[in-house]
Amino acid sequence: MILSATTRRPLLQFSLRWLGVLALVLASVGLLTAARPAGQEKDAETCGTCHEDAVKAFALKPHAQIGDKSCTSCHGSAEKHVEGEGKGGIFAFGSSDLPTDKSAKCLTCHSKDNPQYGASPHAKAALDCTTCHSVHGDTGPALLKTGVNKNCSVCHQDVFAQFQTNERHRLQEGVMTCTTCHDPHEPATRTRLAGFKQEECIRCHTDKGGPFLYEHEASRIEGCTSCHEVHGSNNRHMLTHQSTADLCFSCHAEAPSSHQFFSSQDTNCVTCHATIHGSNLSKRFLK
Ligand code: HEC
Ligand code: HEC
Ligand code: HEC
Ligand code: HEC
Ligand code: HEC
Ligand code: HEC
Ligand code: HEC
Ligand code: HEC
Ligand code: HEC
Ligand code: HEC
Repeated sequence: MILSATTRRPLLQFSLRWLGVLALVLASVGLLTAARPAGQEKDAETCGTCHEDAVKAFALKPHAQIGDKSCTSCHGSAEKHVEGEGKGGIFAFGSSDLPTDKSAKCLTCHSKDNPQYGASPHAKAALDCTTCHSVHGDTGPALLKTGVNKNCSVCHQDVFAQFQTNERHRLQEGVMTCTTCHDPHEPATRTRLAGFKQEECIRCHTDKGGPFLYEHEASRIEGCTSCHEVHGSNNRHMLTHQSTADLCFSCHAEAPSSHQFFSSQDTNCVTCHATIHGSNLSKRFLK
């Protein structure tokens, strides 16, 4: 049949419209598949033949975002494993794998977040990322096997005990966590704390940071911890000594002669030296 120009046009429009609909359908199918990144699709298919449950559960985990090579980016090239029906040939983060090898896998992507992990006390103590994080398991925020405080306290029980003393930071009440002050991934200041000094404390206790015209050098040079326990203690205001005078005498062996009758039992030095953290008015922290 030969179609005239006038009849041909509507037919063309008709098929164009259907092409449009078809394109829309294709696009939405495309969108649906795009929600699952292409790589996940490929690994999910390969691994899913035998690990169906693991693949399904994984789709809801943050690492599904990896997209390309969503399984093999951690488990390594799996060709032998796939061929050999599961007998070895895969990096499985097992107990016989070296901690440094395990962490290295994670650090291929996370080295920006944790650039110095290798030098941290945790890495040095042979902890790897999976000691605290679980990729597949039931986890809370940040893929932690337990809540932050519990995670740390399993190993640092002595520290946790300090948070159960009378004078303490309110950790259990949720005012802060261990990671408010420590970064478990880092060696420097906040972890090893050699350079901790005042900065982390002043973040919250702004009034203690000055600047003061007359600084108490103890605070500036040796830091808040020269007088305070940081986690908690049974002494008032978390001081390192039960008697304030003993604390002062630990550095000021020689108090002025005007003080000769002050005993460490009866004298609370800060009744007179009231601005013990620093002052703008008194060189001797008297006001
Ligand atoms: C971000 C790294 C990472 C990715 C991505 C990953 N895994 Fe794992 N996988 C691990 C780690 C670490 C373990 C060791 C157990 C643990 O810490 O959860 C493990 C353990 C396993 C195990 C053995 C233990 C078990 O749970 O039975 C299987 C099977 C497994 N993974 C399959 C997969 C599959 C399939 C995928 C892709 C859908 C995948 N993994 C993606 C890190 C990863
Ligand atoms: C042909 C089937 C098959 C395929 C495909 C397959 N696996 Fe496995 N996989 C197994 C079997 C079988 C085991 C051993 C399971 C057991 O012992 O419970 C296993 C174990 C594992 C383990 C744990 C090894 C260990 O030593 O504990 C990991 C991790 C793993 N597979 C990851 C993967 C990943 C990632 C893929 C995709 C790249 C994959 N598997 C593809 C069959 C397969
Ligand atoms: C191929 C890259 C890649 C590898 C390898 C990798 N990750 Fe990730 N990781 C990601 C991406 C992408 C995210 C999600 C986006 C984000 O939070 O930055 C993520 C998120 C995380 C998170 C944060 C989750 C959250 O809820 O905030 C943790 C914890 C984590 N990964 C730990 C690990 C550990 C442990 C390993 C090694 C077993 C590992 N990752 C290996 C790419 C990777
Ligand atoms: C000693 C336990 C521990 C170890 C070991 C550890 N982490 Fe973490 N990680 C944590 C805790 C706790 C958090 C939550 C931090 C918070 O609440 O601020 C976290 C958070 C994270 C996050 C989320 C982003 C962030 O920084 O808050 C990533 C990503 C991460 N860790 C990756 C890793 C990698 C990679 C390794 C190994 C190189 C590793 N972690 C080793 C305890 C650990
Ligand atoms: C699996 C056990 C384990 C877990 C979990 C753990 N640590 Fe550690 N931590 C250690 C070991 C071992 C050391 C090194 C030896 C030491 O100094 O006690 C260490 C060292 C430290 C140090 C340095 C101590 C020093 O004297 O330099 C700090 C700070 C620290 N951990 C904080 C944390 C925090 C915060 C968490 C939780 C996010 C945590 N740890 C979780 C085992 C653990
Ligand atoms: C308010 C901030 C803060 C919080 C919260 C905190 N720490 Fe500390 N932590 C410090 C400071 C500061 C030091 C250094 C003390 C010093 O130099 O005398 C320290 C020292 C440590 C040390 C090494 C010395 C020691 O006492 O063994 C470990 C381990 C430690 N903290 C673990 C933890 C754990 C685990 C938690 C949570 C249960 C926690 N910290 C919560 C500030 C904090
Ligand atoms: C995240 C905020 C925060 C950080 C960081 C912090 N503190 Fe505190 N601190 C508090 C709060 C809030 C209280 C009040 C305790 C309460 O909840 O009753 C407190 C209480 C105290 C007290 C006891 C006050 C009293 O009246 O007895 C001392 C001493 C103290 N902190 C010292 C420190 C030192 C030293 C550091 C640094 C290692 C530090 N704080 C870091 C929030 C913080
Ligand atoms: C030279 C010893 C010394 C140093 C160093 C020191 N403090 Fe104190 N701090 C004290 C004494 C003593 C008290 C008790 C004062 C009182 O009884 O009125 C106290 C009390 C406190 C209190 C509770 C009472 C209040 O005034 O809010 C906080 C909080 C505190 N200090 C935080 C800090 C912080 C943060 C640092 C570091 C910037 C620091 N201190 C450094 C000796 C010190
Ligand atoms: C960790 C050591 C340390 C502790 C503890 C300490 N001080 Fe000081 N204090 C110093 C240093 C260092 C100076 C600077 C002048 C010096 O070298 O004597 C100073 C200066 C002073 C001054 C100024 C007068 C002067 O000699 O320049 C007074 C007053 C003073 N301290 C009182 C106290 C009192 C009261 C306490 C107890 C609450 C106390 N100090 C605890 C180290 C300490
Ligand atoms: C009754 C108030 C009062 C009490 C309590 C008190 N002081 Fe003083 N302190 C002063 C006065 C006033 C000065 C300055 C005049 C002087 O040197 O006698 C001073 C000065 C000092 C100085 C600086 C001396 C110098 O060389 O500049 C130190 C150090 C000191 N006191 C330590 C202490 C210690 C430690 C205690 C607790 C055992 C204490 N004071 C208790 C009032 C007091």
